[in-house]
Amino acid sequence: MDAYLAVVSKREVRRYLPRPIPEEALEQIVQAGRASGSSRNRQPWRFIAVTERTILRDLAPFVFRPANLEGCAAAIAVVLTNPRAQFDAGRTAQNMMLAAWTLGIGSCPNTPSDEAAMRERLEIPAEMSISTVLSLGYPAPGEPRPRADADPAAKLTRISRLPLAELLHRETFRA
Ligand SMILES: Cc1cc2nc3c(=O)[nH]c(=O)nc-3n(C[C@H](O)[C@H](O)[C@H](O)COP(=O)(O)O)c2cc1C
Repeated sequence: MDAYLAVVSKREVRRYLPRPIPEEALEQIVQAGRASGSSRNRQPWRFIAVTERTILRDLAPFVFRPANLEGCAAAIAVVLTNPRAQFDAGRTAQNMMLAAWTLGIGSCPNTPSDEAAMRERLEIPAEMSISTVLSLGYPAPGEPRPRADADPAAKLTRISRLPLAELLHRETFRA
């Protein structure tokens, strides 16, 4: 899929098919996270890939929307070695979700509602924090799905986003 199309067509997926993600695809997704840029190339992230159903079930109550995590094929916890590096976390998380999208795999970010409990279940050292937990899987019927033949311009007319006229300023904010 064209990179621009992937960026503008990526939507969050709420429900997934009970179909596993091939190990090679999971590796491609985390490689996209690994390849991400970060402040001074510090790479302040670690990834925990979870595919064990029992662990996914254990983690689900610790996010705001448990069903999303409970029903996914895999999850990737984005762990920060520097809790202030949220911008870097966003870069690596979005890269992984976009890479997944190009492979036909949907995703959704989940913020922990009980980070301490999640940290304990995932055995994460106390000095690290969890930025987000990405759910991953093949979209269930009715969910958004990647389409390599879609038209980016058409996608942009239909998305639920503020219009550019409201977002974009030129030269200065006041202009
Ligand atoms: C089940 C579910 C849980 C979500 N949880 C979070 C979250 O915790 N943090 C976050 O930044 N976005 C979260 N999102 C994503 C935003 O809601 C989403 O990016 C925004 O609504 C745009 O969605 P769209 O790209 O599908 O139009 C969640 C989405 C869903 C469907």
